[in-house]
Amino acid sequence: MTVTTMLHNLGSINLDHVYRVPHLVAPGETLASREYRVGLGGKGANQSLAMALAGGEVAHWGRLGRQDAWAREILARAGVDVSSLALVDEPSGHAIIQVDDLGENAILLFAGANHGFQPEAIEASLDTTRPGDWLLAQNECNGLVEIMEGAHRRGVSIAFNPAPMTDSVASLPLTHCRLLFVNRSEAARLGDVEPSASAETLLDALAAKLTDVETVLTLGGEGAWYQHGSERFHQAALAVEPVDTTGAGDTFIGYYLAALQAGLPVPDCLARATMAAALCVQHPGAADSIPRRDTVESLLAKHRPPS
Ligand code: RIB
Repeated sequence: MTVTTMLHNLGSINLDHVYRVPHLVAPGETLASREYRVGLGGKGANQSLAMALAGGEVAHWGRLGRQDAWAREILARAGVDVSSLALVDEPSGHAIIQVDDLGENAILLFAGANHGFQPEAIEASLDTTRPGDWLLAQNECNGLVEIMEGAHRRGVSIAFNPAPMTDSVASLPLTHCRLLFVNRSEAARLGDVEPSASAETLLDALAAKLTDVETVLTLGGEGAWYQHGSERFHQAALAVEPVDTTGAGDTFIGYYLAALQAGLPVPDCLARATMAAALCVQHPGAADSIPRRDTVESLLAKHRPPS
């Protein structure tokens, strides 16, 4: 009998209010948007959805305002286990997202229910895990110290995406993590180097600070790196015209973790994740732009991006 290790995601769920604008609004400027839509987002929800669409086994631990149960349905329909996703009386988290003509974005967050995790609820969710399972978290929910300490005590492997980066990340027990997903600015803050540093410098700085932690560094058009100890792999990005980069990092993480859960070697995890992210940026929205597994696989069969 094959027992799949479960991935539990203590993750944010946001309602994304997305505005298409000619350029990101400047301080003091009033700018008319050309288009407005509301969709499912939140780094946590996007990552769970991406993992499920990639064929992974994922349970989402989240909190959502009662009136927004439609968002839970989207996750459930995709195959995410939502039995620990609570509908609560607080307002859901939301994001105000501007997307400009180059596909770049600026995001304003309201945490709402994402910051209402109580220690007892975290303990109860942790009690559903088994040693060898994975726990995923981002930096959009409260309770991160408790969740990391509790997971570590139970022998659960921790994957962490410190996004959005804040000063509080420095006080988390990051050495408990097995896997860290960072972009350029997050790597620079954690490694205490300039954001313009080369990928090698960023990776060296992270290796010096978090010696035993596996790191995946995502660099958009410059591809992605994996590092553990003296081992490093690079995966080039597929050259595409981005329409909207929102959710691309989350898509990468979900696809990477599903491939890892399926037992694929790191270079294959990187290739799948990179391809999924390249597809994501060609469509508007966060959750709405996450590609399905068959689309990713058929594109990979045609042209695997060079490493
Ligand atoms: O990573 C993209 C996500 O960041 C958006 O969906 C938004 O909700 C914010 O959490």
